Amino acid sequence: MSLAVRGLTKRFDRKTAVDDLSFDVARGEIVAVVGPNGAGKSTTLMCLSGLVRPDAGTILFDGAVLGPERGRTIALIPETPDVYPMLTVWEHLAFVAALTKQPAGWEDRAEALLDRLAMARERDTLGNTLSKGMRQKTLLAATVLGGTPALLLDEPMIGLDPLGQRELRAIVTSLRAQGHAILVSTHLLESAAAMCDRMLVLDRGRLVASGTIDELRARRGDGSIEDVFLDVTLGQPQDRITS
Ligand SMILES: Nc1ncnc2c1ncn2[C@@H]1O[C@H](COP(=O)(O)OP(=O)(O)OP(=O)(O)O)[C@@H](O)[C@H]1O
Ligand SMILES: [Mg+2]
Repeated sequence: MSLAVRGLTKRFDRKTAVDDLSFDVARGEIVAVVGPNGAGKSTTLMCLSGLVRPDAGTILFDGAVLGPERGRTIALIPETPDVYPMLTVWEHLAFVAALTKQPAGWEDRAEALLDRLAMARERDTLGNTLSKGMRQKTLLAATVLGGTPALLLDEPMIGLDPLGQRELRAIVTSLRAQGHAILVSTHLLESAAAMCDRMLVLDRGRLVASGTIDELRARRGDGSIEDVFLDVTLGQPQDRITS
C-alpha cells in the first residue's frame, strides 16, 4: 500500500534532470528527498504530481498505474506557492471542498485548519495580496482539506514563520498517522531527519543513498546526517574543519 515510482526519467533538452529513479513511499510514512541545488528534487515532485510530463517511468498508487487524473490521489504544494489572485483564502477552501466533494461539515474542518495556521484573520483576503508564507498556508489548508492519500511538499518550511513551521510539522505528522503517504523535499537536513521515516538523497537526478536516518548515520559511524549527505553527494568522505 504505497506510492511507487519506477524508472522515472525527465530530460530538458540534453540535460537529464531525473535519471531512472525508483522508490516507494508507504502509506503512513514520511519520506524526505534531499540533494544539492539542481539535483532533480522539484522535477521529481512535478512529474509525480502530473504538472511535468516525464520521458519515461511509471507512477503507481496502491498497485494501480496513475494516469492524468491523478490529482485525486496526489497533491503537490510547489516550491512557488501560486494561488488564485482573485479568490479569497476561504474561496480557495470552498473551491477544493467542492472539487473533492467533501461531505457536509467541511466548513468546521476548514475553520479549524485556518485557526491552526494562524490564518483566521486572512479568511477574506484575496490571493493577490497574501504574503508568501500565507500563500503557502492557504495551499496547505486547501490540500489537507482535499484529503488526497499522497501528499508532496516542495521546500515547505522555507517562508513559514516559526509557528507555521511547528504547525506544518504537526499537520504532516498527523496525516502520517491517518495513513497518508508523504514526500517532502528539503535542504533542512536535521529538521527533516527529526520528522521523516526515511530519506532519499538525490544527486544529478540519481538516487545516491537512501535509508532510515539511523541507517544513513551508521554509514558514518553514527556521524551527522550532514556528514553523510556531503560524503554521498561529493563522492568521498569529507574531512572538514568544524567549529
Ligand atoms: N523547465 C526547465 N527547463 C530546463 N531545465 C530545467 C527545467 N526545470 C529544471 N531544469 C533543470 O533540471 C535540473 C533539476 O532541477 P530541479 O529544479 O529539479 O532541482 P532541485 O533539486 O529542485 O534544486 P533546488 O534545490 O535548487 O530546488 C537542473 O539542472 C535544472 O536546471
Ligand atoms: Mg527545487
